[in-house]
Amino acid sequence: MARLKDCLNIEDLRQAASRRAHKMVFDYIDGGADDERTLVNNSRAFDRYDLAFKVLTGVDHIDPSITLLGERLDVPFLCSPAAGNRLFHTEGERAVAKAAADVGTIYALSTLSSVSLEEIAELTDGPKWFQLYVWKDRALVKEMLDRARAAGYTALVLTVDFPITGNRERDPRNGFTIPPTYGVRQAIDAVRAPFWTRDFLLGPPIRYANLSGDTPAVSLNQFVAEQLHAGFDWKDAEWLLGEWNGNAVIKGVVRPDDARRAVELGFDAISISNHGGRQLDHSPAPIDALPAIADEIGSDAELILDGGVRRGTDILKALALGARAVSFARPYLYGLAAGGYAGASRALQIMADAVRRDMALMGIRSVSEIDASFVRTR
Ligand SMILES: Cc1cc2nc3c(=O)[nH]c(=O)nc-3n(C[C@H](O)[C@H](O)[C@H](O)COP(=O)(O)O)c2cc1C
Repeated sequence: MARLKDCLNIEDLRQAASRRAHKMVFDYIDGGADDERTLVNNSRAFDRYDLAFKVLTGVDHIDPSITLLGERLDVPFLCSPAAGNRLFHTEGERAVAKAAADVGTIYALSTLSSVSLEEIAELTDGPKWFQLYVWKDRALVKEMLDRARAAGYTALVLTVDFPITGNRERDPRNGFTIPPTYGVRQAIDAVRAPFWTRDFLLGPPIRYANLSGDTPAVSLNQFVAEQLHAGFDWKDAEWLLGEWNGNAVIKGVVRPDDARRAVELGFDAISISNHGGRQLDHSPAPIDALPAIADEIGSDAELILDGGVRRGTDILKALALGARAVSFARPYLYGLAAGGYAGASRALQIMADAVRRDMALMGIRSVSEIDASFVRTR
């Protein structure tokens, strides 16, 4: 197995994850909906933009810090929410929370985390947001908001691109369920992934710790089908904002009109996202959706670009086109699956180093100096 320190970039970590994790688990992280056009395009779309660097600006001191919803972050990126991290590595969300705090950024914890929101809140002093899927049971939603507020989460992230689950064909093809079940094929693949299998079988069972307490998770698809509130609409979002009464991010918007409506309703930030290509295939890449939303919203809300970010240059392109910050999940999930805390940490450090290096190469000393003049559309 490649050593983590030999992983120079996110693709190296992806390869390391594919070697360590069970195939069905790796595919759950790596895959997207339908023909995976959006999954691929999310990253590829960055190639349509070039960076016109400045020279002789004196770049001996680089400051990549930003302010996002009033919080100072040491880097212009944060960790997007991702479900059930215990599947990828026994250290699960604990590892990611620590790695995020180390680089001085926000960890957005998923509703469907395998460690409770209270435990993650206690684990580090780093800033944390709580991501919410909306369940049919309003009492459950209210209880979660109360718990997140009491635990000190500083913003609510409402994910809106997930009214139902997207069609991810790798999962049924692999016979993937949460928790995993084993037929002959899964057992053969388990032998091919001995480190993952040993850790998974010896560790505690996976559960959705925010929902089910000590009860093992039922199948994700079954749970989502039963509990997700597909009828949730703008009126319900208004109700939710009133219940939360704090900083709120709407995650999963690609249209300027939806972005405008969200701002009018009271959302403080918009995460331009298509769920990493896991929901509607052929939805636009966030980097392509960003300019029109930035034009529409101006400074009325803060914009986060989410999806496809793998390089420092991707981050700087997004900032130049109007994002306040970017977020990503797979980069740290590959790291986690490849090597627990050390791997998640490696992923975030690779990104942090890349931002600094690329800022210097662009002739930018602080993030406030970045503007549209640095980007050329090919
Ligand atoms: C394995 C996995 C699980 C995810 N779980 C959630 C989730 O629980 N809630 C959520 O809002 N988004 C979830 N997402 C979407 C991410 O938050 C994010 O929008 C997306 O992964 C961004 O694309 P990137 O991974 O290419 O950076 C998940 C993504 C992955 C890959």
